Amino acid sequence: FKKVKDGLLSSITSAKELKETAGFDMNKNESTVSITVVGASGDLAKKKIFPALFALYYEDCLPKHFTVFGYARSKMTDAELRNMVSKTLTCRIDKRENCSEKMDQFLKRCFYHSGQYDSQENFTELDKKLKEHEGGRLSNRLFYLSIPPNIFIDAVKCASTSASSANGWTRVIVEKPFGRDSESSAALTKSLKQYLDEEQIFRIDHYLGKELVENLSVLRFSNLIFEPLWSRQYIRNVQLIFSEDFGTEGRGGYFDHYGIIRDIMQNHLLQILALFAMETPVSLDAEDIRNEKVKVLRSMRPIRLEDVVIGQYKSHIKGGITYPAYTDDKTVPKDSLTPTFAAAALFIDNARWDGVPFLMKAGKALHNKRIRVQFRHVPGNLYNRNFGTDLDRGTNELVIRVQPDEAIYLKINNKVPGLGMRLDHSNLNLHYAARYSKEIPDAYERLLLDAIEGERRLFIRSDELDAAWSLFTPVLKELEEKRLFLSTIHMVVGDLLGLTIFQQDTTSDGE
Ligand code: NDP
Ligand code: BG6
Repeated sequence: FKKVKDGLLSSITSAKELKETAGFDMNKNESTVSITVVGASGDLAKKKIFPALFALYYEDCLPKHFTVFGYARSKMTDAELRNMVSKTLTCRIDKRENCSEKMDQFLKRCFYHSGQYDSQENFTELDKKLKEHEGGRLSNRLFYLSIPPNIFIDAVKCASTSASSANGWTRVIVEKPFGRDSESSAALTKSLKQYLDEEQIFRIDHYLGKELVENLSVLRFSNLIFEPLWSRQYIRNVQLIFSEDFGTEGRGGYFDHYGIIRDIMQNHLLQILALFAMETPVSLDAEDIRNEKVKVLRSMRPIRLEDVVIGQYKSHIKGGITYPAYTDDKTVPKDSLTPTFAAAALFIDNARWDGVPFLMKAGKALHNKRIRVQFRHVPGNLYNRNFGTDLDRGTNELVIRVQPDEAIYLKINNKVPGLGMRLDHSNLNLHYAARYSKEIPDAYERLLLDAIEGERRLFIRSDELDAAWSLFTPVLKELEEKRLFLSTIHMVVGDLLGLTIFQQDTTSDGE
């Protein structure tokens, strides 16, 4: 093997030398990546996409030849785009060496083209500019649709027909929401596939790019101690908790049309659930992993109305500060009944998970995000009395704190030091900030890099999407048809714990 490899390397070197001596421009044979952020003037582009691209550049993860184009209707010069982008770039990398120098170099590679999303002519102009920057190299093009969903198809049509690569790949990252229900999602997929092949579509769910979600499979499949316990035999319930300590804050226009179930549960939490519950994939190949996720989703029962609780946050006062209610957001109708909180029990009808509730909880204007696995009680009662009155404290729990302050800890029982026999429930704790000095990359960095490299593992395939919508569509319809509004919640966590669905599973952390 080595001989063959060495032989190949030497022949490549001599071919290179030969061409250079013969006066060929080797650059022409190198490839380039043009990344177009469609909707570059928007919130997501500024907050996440440009900073993630800069972080990748800083880490030398981007190809040697690349350019970033902003595209939107707003009028802006290249200099104005650079100025806008520069305000959002941060040197998140731990050493922070030469950061401002790197920022300048990155900004020089950023350009802007103003155009309509449904104008072939404007995309043709973009194509011309892209070509100028590509300098005759093999061109690969990535379009990131960071625009409202009602204009996805217009933009895809124009980008694919007027600005796709002539000699390399063209890929399109599509942001959620992928429809509002099974029908609209299927219609979106059908329209996208008029212009793109499935391999060109990268449906992003940024939760799949989060460090601790990536670590879920490693934790489970590379540690012998966990895999045997990962089933109904030992696990009593799994809780997937998303809570943010802020409300809709200006995104109410979007949010009010979707609500928390579509915004968080149907995608982010369900994706985590599928990764958590899937069988061992044949390999780490994207298709093998996605096949296993689809199997889990298809083994699940559609959610029933009686297994769901919804609510909406009210105004409240904390530490002397008054926080607004959801309906105080100016972009939200005053009489909105859109849920900002939901809790649901989901079930997987397969041999591994039969009868184990997967409890999802998602809410705006609350506190933080985690996955909690509660194990069954130890059989018998050898030590139960040593916990005093609280028998439930003896239950083991594995907690994966996705963010903030990432951590994985296992709650175990141990003896309190001393002459007596009193038991304590304490944590075996992997606290990321203490263990790793390097900052955790933002999810968008990993996902953008994967899209550039053609790695599809962390993107949603269309059959996954169909299966995910099938679970939620019936209950969403029922909720909307009946204009059902079961409860209005307060911001106060104590009130949340009062939701009957979770009462018997309230954990030792008081969550
Ligand atoms: P914005 O509302 O900020 O829209 C992005 C850009 O699209 C705007 O700057 C505007 O650019 C253009 N635009 C907005 N509304 C319209 C319209 N009605 N018709 C035509 N163009 C319009 O969106 P975000 O940046 O917040 O989000 C982009 C996408 O990403 C959306 O699909 C969103 O659901 C999704 N997303 C956003 C997240 C976030 O945190 N912001 C998180 C997860 C997903 P111009 O006027 O210059 O053309
Ligand atoms: C987005 C939702 O997908 O995820 C937002 O649309 C939510 O409503 C956001 O705030 C949360 O992302 P993160 O990475 O901050 O947990």
